[in-house]
Amino acid sequence: MTSEKKTVLVRVDLNSTYDRKILDNERFAGAETTIKELIRKNAKVVLLAHQGRAGEKDFLPLNQHAKILSRYIGKKVIFVPDVIGAKAKKAIKNLRPGDVLLLNNVRFVKDEEDEKKALASKSSIVKALAPLADIFVNDAFSVSHRAQASVVGFARLPCCFGRLMQEEIESVKKVFGLPGPHVFILGGAKSDDCIGILEHILKTNPQSIAHALTCGVTANIFMKAKGMKIGKKSEELIKKKKLEDQIGYARNILKKYSSKIILPEDVAIESKKKRIEVPIKKIPADAQILDIGNVTIKKYKKIITAAKTIVVKGPAGLYEDKRFSKGTKELFDCVAKSRAFSIIGGGDTTQALNKLKISRKKFSHVSLGGGALITYLSGKSMPGIDVILKKR
Ligand code: 3PG
Repeated sequence: MTSEKKTVLVRVDLNSTYDRKILDNERFAGAETTIKELIRKNAKVVLLAHQGRAGEKDFLPLNQHAKILSRYIGKKVIFVPDVIGAKAKKAIKNLRPGDVLLLNNVRFVKDEEDEKKALASKSSIVKALAPLADIFVNDAFSVSHRAQASVVGFARLPCCFGRLMQEEIESVKKVFGLPGPHVFILGGAKSDDCIGILEHILKTNPQSIAHALTCGVTANIFMKAKGMKIGKKSEELIKKKKLEDQIGYARNILKKYSSKIILPEDVAIESKKKRIEVPIKKIPADAQILDIGNVTIKKYKKIITAAKTIVVKGPAGLYEDKRFSKGTKELFDCVAKSRAFSIIGGGDTTQALNKLKISRKKFSHVSLGGGALITYLSGKSMPGIDVILKKR
């Protein structure tokens, strides 16, 4: 497919950790290869990306992303604070070969996440932008588990995978068929991804998973499903993240596969501005769980050391705060030292590697996808990949 002078829509994933500003991270470096190749080929490059989820504090426009990305590709990335309106269309029409334009957060468009419309190519973004484009490239493995308009809606155009996407698929494919026991470490705050995928793997291929070591919000949901008291603030976080429905799914998983789901035995909370550790049966009523405790760390490390294949999605606690980074640091270090095939993924996970100064080279593969990584490994469909493969 030649892209000379063509307008090429590229779905990238620049979704980043926000800590008073957008933090630079591997997703920018990851997007670089395809964009530079398209610049060399004289294409007019239009980038589509998202940041955060509606209602969260990191649900932001992409102006900071354009600045960071400019440093990687060595030329100015034009930014317009618009996705489907007149400003965006004008900016696309004004592009010259070799220019790169980043449109605003695609999740600002109200039907971006309407899966039915997206799969039928009837979303507003597709109606507005497809007539202006010649080619669609999906270079966002890490969001390809979502049937969202900017991921699947443009597949009626001539389309293909980007270089990062190709590389991710090739690396992640290697995990299939690797020797057991397979151990999953499931942490972070996107528990809907973790629980949904656990349910799918356990239903379709239960022998492929020896243990799921739970931490972060995922552990809290499993503990709640077991009827344990996790502290008022931990409960509030589950509500704020609209994850209450996950408790029922977790309960069903525990009914059938409780021996595979490993829950923390102790946790760290804050008391008088300090880290203290308490057994899970003694979590104070108003507490918030911020990390796993020492007993749990020791137990999890023993399981990790015996594993042959390890998949890590999400940090064990609030790693950004030094007092609560211990669980994440110790587990990740243990995976890094193990001889197992290790695959570690997700935006927050890779950010934690940077913050805790753990070398990426110690893992067999570091994926930019978290939810996407475990979805792919579970064998569940990846809409962003499927729509393109179907056309081939
Ligand atoms: C990620 O960070 O895992 C991807 O960007 C997908 O984001 P989402 O979980 O909000 O869809």
